Amino acid sequence: MTHLELNSVTKTFGDPNKDGVVAVNNLTIDVADGEFLVLLGPSGCGKTTTLRMIGGLEEPTEGEVKFDGTVVNDVKARNRDIAMVFQDFALYPHMTVRENLAFGLRREDNGMTDDDIEEHVVETAEMLEIEDLLNNKPAQLSGGQKQRVALGRAIIREPRLFLFDEPLANLDAQLRKTMRTEIDELQSKVGITSAYVTHNQEEAMTIADKIAVLNAGELQQLGAPDQVFNEPANLFVAQFVGSPNMNLFEATIGETEDSFRVELDGSSFDLPKRLVDAEITTDEVLVGFRPQDFYQTRRRALDGPELDTEVRVVEPVGTEAIVHGDSAPGDVTAKIGGFHDLSSGKQLSLTIAPEHVYLFDARTEELLKGRLVAERADDEASASEVEV
Ligand SMILES: Nc1ncnc2c1ncn2[C@@H]1O[C@H](COP(=O)(O)OP(=O)(O)OP(=O)(O)O)[C@@H](O)[C@H]1O
Ligand SMILES: [Mg+2]
Repeated sequence: MTHLELNSVTKTFGDPNKDGVVAVNNLTIDVADGEFLVLLGPSGCGKTTTLRMIGGLEEPTEGEVKFDGTVVNDVKARNRDIAMVFQDFALYPHMTVRENLAFGLRREDNGMTDDDIEEHVVETAEMLEIEDLLNNKPAQLSGGQKQRVALGRAIIREPRLFLFDEPLANLDAQLRKTMRTEIDELQSKVGITSAYVTHNQEEAMTIADKIAVLNAGELQQLGAPDQVFNEPANLFVAQFVGSPNMNLFEATIGETEDSFRVELDGSSFDLPKRLVDAEITTDEVLVGFRPQDFYQTRRRALDGPELDTEVRVVEPVGTEAIVHGDSAPGDVTAKIGGFHDLSSGKQLSLTIAPEHVYLFDARTEELLKGRLVAERADDEASASEVEV
Protein backbone atom coordinates (compact mmCIF):
# COMPACT_ATOMS: atom_id res chain seq x y z
CA MET A 1 0.00 0.00 0.00
CA THR A 2 1.54 3.22 -1.12
CA HIS A 3 0.62 6.85 -1.35
CA LEU A 4 2.15 8.03 -4.63
CA GLU A 5 3.00 11.65 -5.36
CA LEU A 6 4.48 13.39 -8.35
CA ASN A 7 5.66 16.84 -7.38
CA SER A 8 6.27 19.29 -10.26
CA VAL A 9 7.93 16.53 -12.26
CA THR A 10 9.56 17.49 -15.56
CA LYS A 11 11.39 15.25 -18.00
CA THR A 12 13.45 16.71 -20.81
CA PHE A 13 15.18 14.42 -23.30
CA GLY A 14 18.31 15.89 -24.89
CA ASP A 15 19.68 19.38 -24.33
CA PRO A 16 16.90 21.76 -23.22
CA ASN A 17 18.83 24.72 -24.73
CA LYS A 18 19.07 23.07 -28.15
CA ASP A 19 16.61 20.62 -29.61
CA GLY A 20 15.61 18.92 -26.36
CA VAL A 21 12.13 17.45 -26.05
CA VAL A 22 10.07 18.30 -22.96
CA ALA A 23 8.20 15.00 -22.65
CA VAL A 24 6.58 15.82 -19.31
CA ASN A 25 6.20 19.35 -18.00
CA ASN A 26 5.71 20.30 -14.36
CA LEU A 27 3.37 17.43 -13.54
CA THR A 28 1.81 17.24 -10.08
CA ILE A 29 -0.39 14.26 -9.26
CA ASP A 30 -1.43 12.75 -5.94
CA VAL A 31 -2.62 9.14 -5.82
CA ALA A 32 -4.02 7.95 -2.49
CA ASP A 33 -3.32 4.55 -1.00
CA GLY A 34 -5.13 1.86 -3.00
CA GLU A 35 -6.31 4.30 -5.68
CA PHE A 36 -6.37 3.47 -9.40
CA LEU A 37 -4.89 6.31 -11.48
CA VAL A 38 -5.21 6.32 -15.25
CA LEU A 39 -2.85 8.43 -17.36
CA LEU A 40 -4.87 9.30 -20.46
CA GLY A 41 -3.90 11.22 -23.55
CA PRO A 42 -2.97 11.01 -27.23
CA SER A 43 0.17 9.42 -28.61
CA GLY A 44 3.33 11.26 -27.56
CA CYS A 45 1.72 13.19 -24.67
CA GLY A 46 4.14 11.76 -22.09
CA LYS A 47 2.20 8.87 -20.54
CA THR A 48 4.92 6.24 -20.79
CA THR A 49 7.61 8.69 -19.70
CA THR A 50 5.55 9.51 -16.60
CA LEU A 51 5.06 5.83 -15.79
CA ARG A 52 8.76 5.12 -16.29
CA MET A 53 9.64 7.91 -13.86
CA ILE A 54 7.29 6.38 -11.28
CA GLY A 55 8.93 3.02 -11.90
CA GLY A 56 12.48 4.31 -11.71
CA LEU A 57 13.35 3.51 -15.33
CA GLU A 58 13.68 7.20 -16.13
CA GLU A 59 15.03 9.95 -13.89
CA PRO A 60 13.07 13.21 -13.64
CA THR A 61 14.97 16.25 -14.90
CA GLU A 62 13.20 18.27 -12.22
CA GLY A 63 10.74 17.59 -9.43
CA GLU A 64 10.16 14.71 -7.06
CA VAL A 65 8.56 11.28 -7.11
CA LYS A 66 7.47 10.23 -3.62
CA PHE A 67 6.27 6.93 -2.19
CA ASP A 68 4.57 7.42 1.20
CA GLY A 69 6.16 10.83 1.58
CA THR A 70 9.72 9.67 0.86
CA VAL A 71 11.49 10.97 -2.25
CA VAL A 72 12.51 7.98 -4.39
CA ASN A 73 14.23 9.84 -7.27
CA ASP A 74 17.53 8.14 -6.41
CA VAL A 75 16.09 4.69 -5.67
CA LYS A 76 16.78 2.18 -8.44
CA ALA A 77 13.86 0.48 -10.17
CA ARG A 78 14.61 -2.92 -8.66
CA ASN A 79 14.56 -1.46 -5.16
CA ARG A 80 11.22 0.31 -5.55
CA ASP A 81 9.15 -2.85 -5.03
CA ILE A 82 6.88 -2.25 -7.99
CA ALA A 83 5.35 -4.57 -10.57
CA MET A 84 4.98 -3.50 -14.18
CA VAL A 85 2.80 -4.97 -16.90
CA PHE A 86 3.40 -3.86 -20.46
CA GLN A 87 1.72 -4.23 -23.82
CA ASP A 88 4.09 -7.01 -24.90
CA PHE A 89 3.80 -9.07 -21.74
CA ALA A 90 7.05 -11.02 -22.00
CA LEU A 91 6.63 -14.45 -20.45
CA TYR A 92 9.53 -16.91 -20.30
CA PRO A 93 8.70 -19.19 -23.23
CA HIS A 94 10.55 -22.25 -21.96
CA MET A 95 8.84 -22.12 -18.56
CA THR A 96 5.38 -23.38 -17.68
CA VAL A 97 2.74 -21.02 -16.32
CA ARG A 98 3.55 -22.36 -12.85
CA GLU A 99 7.25 -21.57 -13.29
CA ASN A 100 6.51 -18.18 -14.79
CA LEU A 101 4.39 -17.28 -11.77
CA ALA A 102 6.89 -18.67 -9.27
CA PHE A 103 9.90 -17.04 -10.91
CA GLY A 104 9.56 -13.65 -9.23
CA LEU A 105 9.16 -15.22 -5.81
CA ARG A 106 12.15 -17.52 -6.22
CA ARG A 107 14.39 -14.70 -7.29
CA GLU A 108 13.60 -12.65 -4.20
CA ASP A 109 15.34 -13.07 -0.92
CA ASN A 110 12.09 -13.70 0.92
CA GLY A 111 12.76 -16.88 2.86
CA MET A 112 9.87 -18.70 1.14
CA THR A 113 10.01 -22.49 0.97
CA ASP A 114 8.98 -24.38 -2.17
CA ASP A 115 5.68 -25.21 -0.46
CA ASP A 116 5.05 -21.55 0.33
CA ILE A 117 5.73 -20.63 -3.27
CA GLU A 118 3.45 -23.35 -4.62
CA GLU A 119 0.70 -22.17 -2.29
CA HIS A 120 1.07 -18.61 -3.57
CA VAL A 121 1.13 -19.77 -7.18
CA VAL A 122 -2.09 -21.76 -6.80
CA GLU A 123 -3.82 -18.96 -4.92
CA THR A 124 -2.87 -16.43 -7.60
CA ALA A 125 -3.85 -18.79 -10.41
CA GLU A 126 -7.26 -19.33 -8.81
CA MET A 127 -7.81 -15.60 -8.49
CA LEU A 128 -7.12 -15.24 -12.22
CA GLU A 129 -8.92 -18.47 -13.16
CA ILE A 130 -5.86 -19.96 -14.82
CA GLU A 131 -5.39 -22.87 -12.40
CA ASP A 132 -6.03 -25.37 -15.21
CA LEU A 133 -3.21 -23.89 -17.24
CA LEU A 134 -0.41 -24.18 -14.69
CA ASN A 135 1.42 -26.90 -16.62
CA ASN A 136 1.11 -25.19 -20.03
CA LYS A 137 3.88 -23.29 -21.77
CA PRO A 138 3.13 -19.73 -23.04
CA ALA A 139 2.97 -20.96 -26.67
CA GLN A 140 -0.07 -23.03 -25.71
CA LEU A 141 -1.99 -19.99 -24.39
CA SER A 142 -4.32 -17.49 -26.04
CA GLY A 143 -3.52 -13.77 -25.88
CA GLY A 144 -5.94 -13.25 -23.00
CA GLN A 145 -4.53 -16.19 -21.06
CA LYS A 146 -0.99 -14.90 -21.56
CA GLN A 147 -2.03 -11.52 -20.28
CA ARG A 148 -3.60 -13.15 -17.24
CA VAL A 149 -0.32 -14.93 -16.50
CA ALA A 150 1.52 -11.62 -16.88
CA LEU A 151 -0.91 -10.06 -14.39
CA GLY A 152 -0.41 -13.03 -12.10
CA ARG A 153 3.33 -12.52 -12.14
CA ALA A 154 2.78 -8.90 -11.17
CA ILE A 155 0.36 -9.48 -8.28
CA ILE A 156 1.98 -12.58 -6.81
CA ARG A 157 4.74 -10.44 -5.34
CA GLU A 158 2.27 -8.08 -3.63
CA PRO A 159 4.24 -5.04 -4.71
CA ARG A 160 3.84 -1.51 -3.39
CA LEU A 161 2.66 -0.28 -6.76
CA PHE A 162 1.26 -1.69 -9.98
CA LEU A 163 2.27 0.06 -13.18
CA PHE A 164 0.49 -0.81 -16.41
CA ASP A 165 1.42 0.53 -19.85
CA GLU A 166 -1.35 -0.19 -22.36
CA PRO A 167 -1.50 -3.79 -21.13
CA LEU A 168 -4.54 -4.64 -23.27
CA ALA A 169 -3.51 -2.97 -26.51
CA ASN A 170 -2.68 -6.27 -28.25
CA LEU A 171 -5.98 -7.95 -27.42
CA ASP A 172 -9.14 -7.92 -29.52
CA ALA A 173 -11.95 -5.56 -28.54
CA GLN A 174 -14.08 -8.12 -26.73
CA LEU A 175 -11.21 -9.52 -24.70
CA ARG A 176 -10.04 -6.03 -23.90
CA LYS A 177 -13.38 -5.29 -22.26
CA THR A 178 -13.33 -8.51 -20.25
CA MET A 179 -9.74 -8.02 -19.16
CA ARG A 180 -10.21 -4.44 -18.10
CA THR A 181 -13.08 -5.47 -15.83
CA GLU A 182 -10.84 -8.19 -14.42
CA ILE A 183 -7.96 -5.81 -13.80
CA ASP A 184 -10.38 -3.44 -12.10
CA GLU A 185 -11.78 -6.19 -9.85
CA LEU A 186 -8.37 -7.59 -9.11
CA GLN A 187 -6.98 -4.22 -8.16
CA SER A 188 -9.93 -3.51 -5.84
CA LYS A 189 -9.48 -6.92 -4.24
CA VAL A 190 -5.74 -6.61 -3.61
CA GLY A 191 -5.98 -2.87 -2.94
CA ILE A 192 -2.61 -2.00 -4.45
CA THR A 193 -2.10 1.57 -5.67
CA SER A 194 -1.96 1.53 -9.47
CA ALA A 195 -1.02 3.74 -12.38
CA TYR A 196 -2.37 2.65 -15.75
CA VAL A 197 -1.50 4.18 -19.12
CA THR A 198 -3.94 4.20 -22.02
CA HIS A 199 -4.96 6.42 -24.93
CA ASN A 200 -8.39 4.77 -24.91
CA GLN A 201 -10.82 7.09 -23.16
CA GLU A 202 -13.49 4.42 -22.74
CA GLU A 203 -11.01 2.15 -20.99
CA ALA A 204 -9.98 5.04 -18.76
CA MET A 205 -13.57 5.94 -17.88
CA THR A 206 -14.47 2.39 -16.85
CA ILE A 207 -11.36 1.45 -14.91
CA ALA A 208 -10.12 4.63 -13.16
CA ASP A 209 -10.75 6.05 -9.73
CA LYS A 210 -8.95 9.12 -10.98
CA ILE A 211 -7.93 10.18 -14.49
CA ALA A 212 -5.01 12.44 -15.35
CA VAL A 213 -5.60 13.82 -18.84
CA LEU A 214 -2.31 14.81 -20.49
CA ASN A 215 -1.62 16.75 -23.64
CA ALA A 216 1.85 17.60 -24.94
CA GLY A 217 3.41 16.73 -21.59
CA GLU A 218 1.05 18.96 -19.61
CA LEU A 219 -1.66 17.97 -17.17
CA GLN A 220 -5.03 19.17 -18.48
CA GLN A 221 -7.19 17.83 -15.70
CA LEU A 222 -7.02 15.45 -12.74
CA GLY A 223 -10.41 14.13 -11.68
CA ALA A 224 -12.82 11.26 -11.28
CA PRO A 225 -14.25 9.89 -14.55
CA ASP A 226 -17.60 11.61 -14.10
CA GLN A 227 -15.89 14.93 -13.35
CA VAL A 228 -13.80 14.68 -16.47
CA PHE A 229 -16.91 13.86 -18.50
CA ASN A 230 -19.30 16.39 -17.00
CA GLU A 231 -16.91 19.20 -16.15
CA PRO A 232 -13.99 18.95 -18.58
CA ALA A 233 -11.49 21.65 -17.63
CA ASN A 234 -11.11 22.77 -21.21
CA LEU A 235 -11.93 22.05 -24.82
CA PHE A 236 -9.13 19.49 -25.18
CA VAL A 237 -10.49 17.30 -22.38
CA ALA A 238 -14.06 17.73 -23.64
CA GLN A 239 -13.10 16.51 -27.08
CA PHE A 240 -10.88 13.70 -25.87
CA VAL A 241 -13.41 12.16 -23.50
CA GLY A 242 -16.79 10.75 -24.54
CA SER A 243 -17.88 8.79 -27.57
CA PRO A 244 -19.11 9.77 -30.09
CA ASN A 245 -17.27 13.08 -29.82
CA MET A 246 -18.95 16.16 -28.43
CA ASN A 247 -20.62 18.44 -30.99
CA LEU A 248 -19.10 21.92 -30.92
CA PHE A 249 -20.49 25.06 -32.50
CA GLU A 250 -19.37 28.68 -32.51
CA ALA A 251 -21.87 31.00 -30.88
CA THR A 252 -22.22 34.43 -29.35
CA ILE A 253 -23.48 35.06 -25.86
CA GLY A 254 -25.35 38.02 -24.43
CA GLU A 255 -26.80 38.74 -21.04
CA THR A 256 -30.36 39.51 -19.95
CA GLU A 257 -31.60 39.96 -16.42
CA ASP A 258 -31.78 36.35 -15.34
CA SER A 259 -30.30 34.43 -18.23
CA PHE A 260 -27.65 34.27 -20.90
CA ARG A 261 -28.85 34.34 -24.49
CA VAL A 262 -26.84 31.99 -26.72
CA GLU A 263 -27.06 32.58 -30.47
CA LEU A 264 -26.04 29.79 -32.80
CA ASP A 265 -26.47 29.87 -36.56
CA GLY A 266 -30.17 29.31 -37.08
CA SER A 267 -31.01 28.71 -33.43
CA SER A 268 -30.89 30.54 -30.13
CA PHE A 269 -31.78 29.66 -26.58
CA ASP A 270 -31.64 30.96 -23.02
CA LEU A 271 -29.42 29.57 -20.30
CA PRO A 272 -30.83 30.54 -16.90
CA LYS A 273 -28.11 32.25 -14.83
CA ARG A 274 -28.59 29.78 -11.97
CA LEU A 275 -27.05 27.12 -14.25
CA VAL A 276 -23.84 29.08 -14.84
CA ASP A 277 -21.26 29.43 -12.06
CA ALA A 278 -18.39 31.01 -14.01
CA GLU A 279 -18.18 34.70 -14.67
CA ILE A 280 -18.69 35.26 -18.37
CA THR A 281 -16.53 38.04 -19.73
CA THR A 282 -16.48 37.04 -23.38
CA ASP A 283 -19.16 37.21 -26.03
CA GLU A 284 -17.55 34.56 -28.24
CA VAL A 285 -18.17 31.03 -27.01
CA LEU A 286 -18.12 27.44 -28.18
CA VAL A 287 -21.26 25.51 -27.35
CA GLY A 288 -20.89 21.77 -26.72
CA PHE A 289 -23.59 19.11 -26.98
CA ARG A 290 -22.93 15.47 -26.08
CA PRO A 291 -24.53 13.14 -28.66
CA GLN A 292 -26.23 11.22 -25.82
CA ASP A 293 -28.00 14.34 -24.53
CA PHE A 294 -30.12 15.02 -27.61
CA TYR A 295 -33.84 14.32 -27.76
CA GLN A 296 -36.22 14.65 -30.63
CA THR A 297 -38.23 17.81 -30.06
CA ARG A 298 -41.50 16.04 -30.74
CA ARG A 299 -40.82 13.76 -27.77
CA ARG A 300 -39.58 16.33 -25.28
CA ALA A 301 -39.83 20.08 -24.86
CA LEU A 302 -36.74 21.13 -22.98
CA ASP A 303 -36.42 24.92 -23.43
CA GLY A 304 -33.08 24.30 -25.08
CA PRO A 305 -31.85 24.93 -28.60
CA GLU A 306 -33.69 23.33 -31.48
CA LEU A 307 -31.57 22.07 -34.32
CA ASP A 308 -33.36 21.35 -37.56
CA THR A 309 -31.30 18.52 -38.92
CA GLU A 310 -31.28 16.66 -42.19
CA VAL A 311 -30.28 13.07 -41.57
CA ARG A 312 -27.28 11.83 -43.57
CA VAL A 313 -26.51 8.46 -41.98
CA VAL A 314 -28.18 6.32 -39.31
CA GLU A 315 -26.07 3.75 -37.46
CA PRO A 316 -28.22 1.55 -35.22
CA VAL A 317 -26.55 0.53 -31.93
CA GLY A 318 -28.84 -1.74 -29.97
CA THR A 319 -31.99 0.12 -28.97
CA GLU A 320 -30.51 3.45 -30.00
CA ALA A 321 -28.97 4.94 -33.11
CA ILE A 322 -26.14 7.28 -33.85
CA VAL A 323 -27.46 9.82 -36.32
CA HIS A 324 -25.18 12.02 -38.40
CA GLY A 325 -26.84 14.99 -40.02
CA ASP A 326 -26.53 18.56 -41.27
CA SER A 327 -27.91 21.52 -39.37
CA ALA A 328 -27.52 25.29 -39.73
CA PRO A 329 -24.60 25.58 -37.27
CA GLY A 330 -22.82 22.55 -38.76
CA ASP A 331 -22.50 18.76 -38.69
CA VAL A 332 -24.47 17.10 -35.90
CA THR A 333 -23.96 13.70 -34.31
CA ALA A 334 -26.75 12.52 -32.02
CA LYS A 335 -27.34 9.28 -30.17
CA ILE A 336 -31.07 8.87 -29.80
CA GLY A 337 -33.80 6.34 -29.19
CA GLY A 338 -36.96 5.96 -31.25
CA PHE A 339 -35.08 5.93 -34.54
CA HIS A 340 -37.02 3.27 -36.45
CA ASP A 341 -38.62 5.91 -38.67
CA LEU A 342 -35.29 7.59 -39.45
CA SER A 343 -33.40 7.30 -42.68
CA SER A 344 -31.17 9.37 -44.90
CA GLY A 345 -32.81 12.60 -46.12
CA LYS A 346 -35.32 12.77 -43.30
CA GLN A 347 -35.81 16.05 -41.39
CA LEU A 348 -35.34 15.84 -37.66
CA SER A 349 -35.71 18.42 -34.92
CA LEU A 350 -33.20 17.85 -32.13
CA THR A 351 -33.21 19.49 -28.74
CA ILE A 352 -31.21 19.36 -25.54
CA ALA A 353 -31.80 20.46 -21.95
CA PRO A 354 -30.02 23.72 -21.00
CA GLU A 355 -28.58 21.84 -17.99
CA HIS A 356 -26.70 19.56 -20.37
CA VAL A 357 -25.23 22.27 -22.59
CA TYR A 358 -21.47 22.89 -22.29
CA LEU A 359 -19.96 26.33 -22.82
CA PHE A 360 -16.33 27.20 -23.48
CA ASP A 361 -14.62 30.55 -23.82
CA ALA A 362 -13.79 30.63 -27.55
CA ARG A 363 -10.43 32.30 -26.95
CA THR A 364 -9.03 30.59 -23.84
CA GLU A 365 -10.89 27.31 -24.51
CA GLU A 366 -11.56 27.05 -20.76
CA LEU A 367 -14.85 25.63 -19.52
CA LEU A 368 -17.53 28.18 -18.61
CA LYS A 369 -20.36 25.77 -17.95
CA GLY A 370 -20.40 21.98 -17.67
CA ARG A 371 -23.07 19.34 -17.76
CA LEU A 372 -25.21 19.53 -14.64
CA VAL A 373 -26.35 16.17 -13.38
CA ALA A 374 -27.90 17.38 -10.13
CA GLU A 375 -31.46 16.30 -9.42
CA ARG A 376 -32.73 19.70 -10.48
CA ALA A 377 -31.69 18.92 -14.04
CA ASP A 378 -33.61 15.64 -14.09
CA ASP A 379 -36.64 17.12 -12.37
CA GLU A 380 -36.96 19.87 -14.89
CA ALA A 381 -36.50 17.62 -17.86
CA SER A 382 -39.26 15.27 -16.77
CA ALA A 383 -41.58 18.06 -15.62
CA SER A 384 -41.57 19.59 -19.06
CA GLU A 385 -41.69 16.29 -20.88
CA VAL A 386 -44.49 16.12 -23.41
CA GLU A 387 -45.90 13.03 -25.01
CA VAL A 388 -46.93 13.42 -28.62
N1 LIG B 1 14.24 8.16 -24.85
C1 LIG B 1 13.72 9.23 -25.47
N2 LIG B 1 14.52 10.11 -26.12
C2 LIG B 1 14.02 11.21 -26.73
N3 LIG B 1 12.73 11.52 -26.75
C3 LIG B 1 11.87 10.68 -26.14
C4 LIG B 1 12.32 9.50 -25.47
N4 LIG B 1 11.25 8.86 -24.95
C5 LIG B 1 10.17 9.62 -25.27
N5 LIG B 1 10.54 10.71 -25.99
C6 LIG B 1 9.63 11.76 -26.49
O1 LIG B 1 8.85 12.22 -25.40
C7 LIG B 1 7.51 12.44 -25.78
C8 LIG B 1 6.59 11.61 -24.91
O2 LIG B 1 6.80 10.24 -25.19
P1 LIG B 1 5.99 9.08 -24.43
O3 LIG B 1 6.58 7.79 -24.88
O4 LIG B 1 6.00 9.35 -22.98
O5 LIG B 1 4.54 9.27 -25.02
P2 LIG B 1 3.22 8.38 -24.82
O6 LIG B 1 2.18 9.31 -24.28
O7 LIG B 1 3.53 7.17 -24.03
O8 LIG B 1 2.83 8.01 -26.33
P3 LIG B 1 2.21 6.65 -26.95
O9 LIG B 1 0.73 6.68 -26.65
O10 LIG B 1 2.49 6.78 -28.40
O11 LIG B 1 2.91 5.48 -26.30
C9 LIG B 1 7.44 12.11 -27.25
O12 LIG B 1 7.57 13.32 -27.97
C10 LIG B 1 8.63 11.22 -27.49
O13 LIG B 1 9.10 11.33 -28.79
MG1 LIG C 1 3.49 5.12 -24.46
